[in-house]
Amino acid sequence: MSESLAIKVSKTDSSRLPQVELKNIHFGHVFTDHMLVADYADGKWQSVEIKPYQSLSFAPSLAAIHYGQSIFEGIKAYKNANGEAVIFRPEENFNRFNESAVRMEMPEVPSEIFMEGLKQLINLDKEWIPAMENHSLYIRPFMFATDEFIGVRPSATYKFIIILSPTGPYYDKPMRIAVEEKYTRAAPGGVGEAKNAGNYGGSLKPAQDAVRNGYDQVLWTDAFEHKWLQEVGTMNVFFVLKNAVLTPSLEEGTILNGVTRKSAIVVLKEMGLNVEERRVNVEELIEAYDKGEFIEAFGTGTAATISRIKELSYKGHHMVFDLEKTQVSQQLAKRLNDIRLGVSEDKHGWITKL
Ligand code: COI
Repeated sequence: MSESLAIKVSKTDSSRLPQVELKNIHFGHVFTDHMLVADYADGKWQSVEIKPYQSLSFAPSLAAIHYGQSIFEGIKAYKNANGEAVIFRPEENFNRFNESAVRMEMPEVPSEIFMEGLKQLINLDKEWIPAMENHSLYIRPFMFATDEFIGVRPSATYKFIIILSPTGPYYDKPMRIAVEEKYTRAAPGGVGEAKNAGNYGGSLKPAQDAVRNGYDQVLWTDAFEHKWLQEVGTMNVFFVLKNAVLTPSLEEGTILNGVTRKSAIVVLKEMGLNVEERRVNVEELIEAYDKGEFIEAFGTGTAATISRIKELSYKGHHMVFDLEKTQVSQQLAKRLNDIRLGVSEDKHGWITKL
């Protein structure tokens, strides 16, 4: 590691962990004792430090707030069956983070900061990883523009930060989903496949409209016909039909290239299922449902893990699933958990030990 990228470590004098109840902890409210911060200025990354979790101060003219040059990732660490801290496929998130950076005209973060920093930070706060079923340590790396300038141009300075948050399940019950008929999350050529903050900001009104109508989330559709399916609020989506498992393909660049999605595809194939990554039309799903051939739907995501869908609704068609028959998602969730917990062999090399 070059000298400028050496990670300085300043530890807290007093851990907050004894005051925290890790069991059934809700997503996203509690943060561990430390965070990693690095600055980009003068064309290079510098001042990399792990320090006590704390507030930041910034000028009202901070570029990221005005034009949304801001990206993030979500990764999870677990305690395996031997009590060791393990991280699920962090290299994939590292690569995707830098793909998002390129799309948003931001500097890439080198492995010495992202991967090495992440491991050191988790090692320092590993006692915060909940060792309970469906619990984990959610890792949130993010980067934002820090120029104090309100002209529209790429910032010359950035902050890269990693924070850690112990969590239970993100969605604690099977979901009712409205297939979106009006709004659009992403169109070809846009930023749909980048994990940038604005994708989520733009999703809030349609998602809240769905909540006001009694649903939990929306399933996004294409910008032109509102019938080609994309992804759900915070997750990719899979449809289990009699003879195939369908998932929207990545080729149009309108959905996130999910790490859980790609892991699920491998595991589903290992389960002997015929997985088709392709354009999926809501009308073919309605037809299959009416014939009794559309059996199950579920979402995949780092925060969401494997989340079962109990209803999909589109233009008055309500596809309601019998949760007793959702065998595929349950088996998939178990297989992925067994790999994370070290109960099954990690034959794909998905687990990083500290
Ligand atoms: C994740 O699954 O890590 C995500 O980034 C979803 C998040 C917006 C909660």
